[in-house]
Amino acid sequence: MSKLIKRTLVLGFILSAIAFSASAEDGSRLWLRFNKTTTDANLFSSIVTSTKSLPYKEFQSAWTELKGKELASITIVENGSLLIGTAKDKQIRNLGLQKELVALGNEGYMIKSVSVNGKKATVVASLTDKGLLYGVFHLLRIVQMNEFSDQLNIKEKPSYALRILNHWDNLDGTVERGYSGHSIWNWEELPAVLSPRYQEYARANASIGINATVLNNVNASPKILSDEYLQKVKAIAGVLRPYNMRVFLSINFSSPKELGGLPTSDPLDVKVQQWWKDKANEIYKLIPDFGGFLVKANSEGLPGPMDYGRTHVDGANMLADALKPHGGIVMWRAFVYEPGDDRAKLAYKEFINFDGKFKDNVMIQVKNGPIDFQPREPFSPLFGAMKKTPLMPELQITQEYLGHSNHLVFLSPMWEEFLKADTYCKGQGTTIAKVTDGRVFGNKLSAIAGVANIGKDVNWTGHHFAQANWYAFGRLAWNNQMTSEQIADEWIKMTFTSPLEVGTPVATNSMSTVDFQLSIKNMMLASHQTAVDYMMPLGLHHIFAWTHHYGPEPWCDVAGARPDWLPKYYHNADAKGVGFDRTTSGSNAVGQYASPLKEQFNDPATCPDAYILWFHHLAWDYKMKSGRTLWDEMCYTYDKGVNDVRGFQKIWDKAEPFIDAQRFAEVQSKLRIQARDAVWWKDACLLYFQTFSKRPIPYDIERPVHNLEDLKKIKLNMGHHN
Ligand code: GCU
Repeated sequence: MSKLIKRTLVLGFILSAIAFSASAEDGSRLWLRFNKTTTDANLFSSIVTSTKSLPYKEFQSAWTELKGKELASITIVENGSLLIGTAKDKQIRNLGLQKELVALGNEGYMIKSVSVNGKKATVVASLTDKGLLYGVFHLLRIVQMNEFSDQLNIKEKPSYALRILNHWDNLDGTVERGYSGHSIWNWEELPAVLSPRYQEYARANASIGINATVLNNVNASPKILSDEYLQKVKAIAGVLRPYNMRVFLSINFSSPKELGGLPTSDPLDVKVQQWWKDKANEIYKLIPDFGGFLVKANSEGLPGPMDYGRTHVDGANMLADALKPHGGIVMWRAFVYEPGDDRAKLAYKEFINFDGKFKDNVMIQVKNGPIDFQPREPFSPLFGAMKKTPLMPELQITQEYLGHSNHLVFLSPMWEEFLKADTYCKGQGTTIAKVTDGRVFGNKLSAIAGVANIGKDVNWTGHHFAQANWYAFGRLAWNNQMTSEQIADEWIKMTFTSPLEVGTPVATNSMSTVDFQLSIKNMMLASHQTAVDYMMPLGLHHIFAWTHHYGPEPWCDVAGARPDWLPKYYHNADAKGVGFDRTTSGSNAVGQYASPLKEQFNDPATCPDAYILWFHHLAWDYKMKSGRTLWDEMCYTYDKGVNDVRGFQKIWDKAEPFIDAQRFAEVQSKLRIQARDAVWWKDACLLYFQTFSKRPIPYDIERPVHNLEDLKKIKLNMGHHN
């Protein structure tokens, strides 16, 4: 071989290696990375299946990524075979698992080490292809995590029947509260052009058990129900269907008037009712497995039944009637706050008397907290209180109030805290998880929704670590008893394949792969509390900048604004103290919780510190459980938040040898933003509250580096409607 050819070959090899690693490590593959390097183990000798449906194809495509070729497909089990199939397959039936499979339902599955005619094999089985798909993804996860064994005995079945993403995507391609680029739905080119991303999206969701999606913003345009758009929706539904994802739409309550040309959208008007029935018929003709409607009505200026002197029940039931013959459901949101009382009380006041009045295909979708996705809120008192209506939690995956896609905040601990919160509605142990998934009330519909953080960005979610929030939502929706630690562990092992494992010679620093994974996990598990600490600790809430909710503006005042859109409504800082008095002598929001919770929240001595300023207005020198004054506690907590982010930077920098260059650099640069922002938050809040407390910032704490007057001048250009 001539030198020239040799050099060209080498160069070509290097270039293609660079191109490969650039496209491979940009985050686009999410947690679905089956690198050859993941494991060397000789897992299976062959695959046995009677149908080559999607679960089989997914397995083979992952296997090809892992091993460079498909797994040999044979017909009779041999030692080391992987047997996959549904209850319809003879070889599965012969295993005698029928009873167990029936108990696991259509979406459940089992993964089991078995012996077939004396041959050791692994079986993945389900009643249906839906469950089989989930089972195969579970098996692949085991492979990715290097946890395969010949002692497997796994049975899984989802906590919620509907595990649904809510996209706040507008038809013009923008995403409300989206921080990872434009909408993935390319409405302009639909239905003719189907972006390959739709299938990747479906596959990613299926891999974590998400089985439904609402394509458009709750602030819905009537246009989504036009013939033209329904064709586009149909096209998307066609791509998602094989992955067991059903499509839902957010609707605008005024559609009969705005789109249908009727004089009214009054839910008791016969013509309006007929319009919705016709619309439902039209939709189901196009999309036979259409899921139903998500409705934001009489909330933040959107139309609703109350415009016509009707109620939420009238509105929801009318839509329920239209969807009922087709098996569709209505997800009616309780995110309402008609002025008149403490905002934290309003949704409960509006909905509690409607309990039991909704049709049986209506669910009420309730945000986790009573206000609005704050960094930390106590749970909404509607959970547990509405006993005859199925409630579905709405979580926010997108980080509207948690640093957008700039801050590393793993949301799973916040959701875990919420799901495990005890409502005491039927005595001790009646947690949110149990009151929503059917265990307490036996509700036949069960669902959980997450506001998506997905956009057109190459890595889908803006911040590489925000992928973990999408992942965690899916995992908790599938199994609401999982711990954040388990979830983080899975995600880290699937997402970061250490170059060290393949023996790449890299400069090491004393850390092992296990240490690396542990330090990243600890960082993730701490990160929500850290964000709360540097943004609004001790139950403070809604002290964000106007409209974009990114930075601090506890001083914010906007002439003519609704008082409950302004920070001072929530923090009530004055010379005496700070916090919102929601006790029995204040707004009595505590009265909406069951005993003994209401008594616990009502007394600052027993109220958890995490919620103390949510429920109490306390003096600056109030003695906290730590022995410090409230003011000092606040100062130390903000400072801890800042220091913890610095700690994250150290953890990340030390992890460099274990991470590919691109993701390492991108996360590092985001952590720098987060560290600067944390200082910004701390200085802004402490300097502002100090104007009331008139107390020194404890002298062992790092001094502010900003001037309050300068911070007040910061106006980010991130406009939004409220
Ligand atoms: C928040 C958010 C809005 C959103 C609303 C909702 O208020 O800021 O952008 O429309 O919640 O959930 O309906």
